Amino acid sequence: MAEAKMTVDREFRIAEIDRRIYGSFIEHLGRAVYTGIYQPEHYAADEEGFRKDVIELVKELGVPIVRYPGGNYVSNFYWEDSVGPKENRRTRLDLAWRSLEPNTFGIDEFQSWAKKTGSEVMMAVNLGTRGVKDALNLLEYCNLDAGTGSVYAKMRADFGHKEPYNIKTWCLGNEMDGPWQIGHKIAPEYGRLAAETAKAMKYMDDSLEFVLCGSSNVDMETFPEWERITLEEAYDYVDYVSLHQYYGNQAGDTADFLAKTMDLERFIHTIECTIDYVRAVKRSKKQVNLSFDEWNVWYHSNAEDDRKMAEEPWRFAPHLLEDHYTFEDALLVGLILITFLKHADRIRIACLAQLVNVIAPVMTETDGPAWRQTIFYPFMQASKYGRGTALYCPLVSTKHDTSTHEDVTDVDAAAVYNEEKGDLAVFAVNRSTKEDAEFTLDLRSFMGKELRVIEHTEMAGFDTGAVNSACDDKAVSPKNAEGTLADGVYRTNLSRLSWNCMVFRVG
Ligand code: AHR
Repeated sequence: MAEAKMTVDREFRIAEIDRRIYGSFIEHLGRAVYTGIYQPEHYAADEEGFRKDVIELVKELGVPIVRYPGGNYVSNFYWEDSVGPKENRRTRLDLAWRSLEPNTFGIDEFQSWAKKTGSEVMMAVNLGTRGVKDALNLLEYCNLDAGTGSVYAKMRADFGHKEPYNIKTWCLGNEMDGPWQIGHKIAPEYGRLAAETAKAMKYMDDSLEFVLCGSSNVDMETFPEWERITLEEAYDYVDYVSLHQYYGNQAGDTADFLAKTMDLERFIHTIECTIDYVRAVKRSKKQVNLSFDEWNVWYHSNAEDDRKMAEEPWRFAPHLLEDHYTFEDALLVGLILITFLKHADRIRIACLAQLVNVIAPVMTETDGPAWRQTIFYPFMQASKYGRGTALYCPLVSTKHDTSTHEDVTDVDAAAVYNEEKGDLAVFAVNRSTKEDAEFTLDLRSFMGKELRVIEHTEMAGFDTGAVNSACDDKAVSPKNAEGTLADGVYRTNLSRLSWNCMVFRVG
């Protein structure tokens, strides 16, 4: 039997969690927008053509911020095509995903949709085929008061949207280090462009926040020099460096797949150190933080997508990146969330990529319902209960080796204290493929007024490849679990391969 002990003390604080770490992402890609969030002819569509069934599931997930409109798509995005009377909107080829883009859903529709889901918008500007001038125009369209009489603010009002959108967080392009990116740049070139774009946008509004493109993933040859060089140019103008990372179990090796958060730890640590190195060189007082604005499991659909894009290009809303997530994928998603909570001092934004149909927790049937994938559940529980203060919790666990990782803890866990509600949430994954784990949670620092279990659920007992479907989206989902609480110590069994969510009232 594996074994793990964790001590939780309300005084040992990492940081207040920025609610935006439960963000997500909608790109004009595949069926994310069309037949995903927007489908006017669907039986569940509202007066604006938004699917109400999808809105309900997004609300259930609790997504405070959504990045838009890409992704690779943004690097050749002409925002003006996506506003104004729909009959005048221009259809374009989306070269990134080799699809047809009718622009019947654009900037204004997304604002309205985000409002209905209770999410803030995180907007990306095109620094691939465009630059400073168009970023400024878009900012003016989105944020400037029409009363100024300035051209794009007035255009927005003329199109029926009098109130400015006040978008606070802006991404300076997308994955500009990637050779696949339209308008790909080398580091000094991008660093200059990002700095000049942010500088000019700040002239319009100094309160805006900017995300500098970091490396597209940890395996890029230019990582982490990319971060150093671009930050040396742009440090003074940006607030976050973006991180993107997707994982896959191509080798069919569950134990090794679930150890990948050890690589993630190193990735985060390296970026933190690179940022802090540039800060030291610049003698800067400002701390730049992390925006992990694309993360997920992504590999199930790759081969078929490559074939489709090569053989069937220029389709409208094609089925692309529709990964069908398994139980083991949900466990990795849980482990990633735990890792983010442990870095809550530096990770201030994170976007599960993506939200609907495209590598997504929420799927839709074109003529049927919206439904929850396996990964929906750990994300939903973390988003619901993981608000407040991330606590630093010493954890001692038995360990194992995998094919490419050594000393992998059987159990990984994080704790969040919500002082306002008087709740403590503990998220734990037992990633051992072989053994249940005896879990001892020392909560004695919370003894006093009240200490009781409110909820304990586990996702466990499924085949690693088990999936949900439109007919049964609760097949792989959390079920009630139990433990014993005595003298401030909670003891429970964490099943082998399990995601666990424990919530305590701590007064
Ligand atoms: O999320 C899918 C794609 O992955 C995004 O468009 C791109 O930024 C990343 O490579």
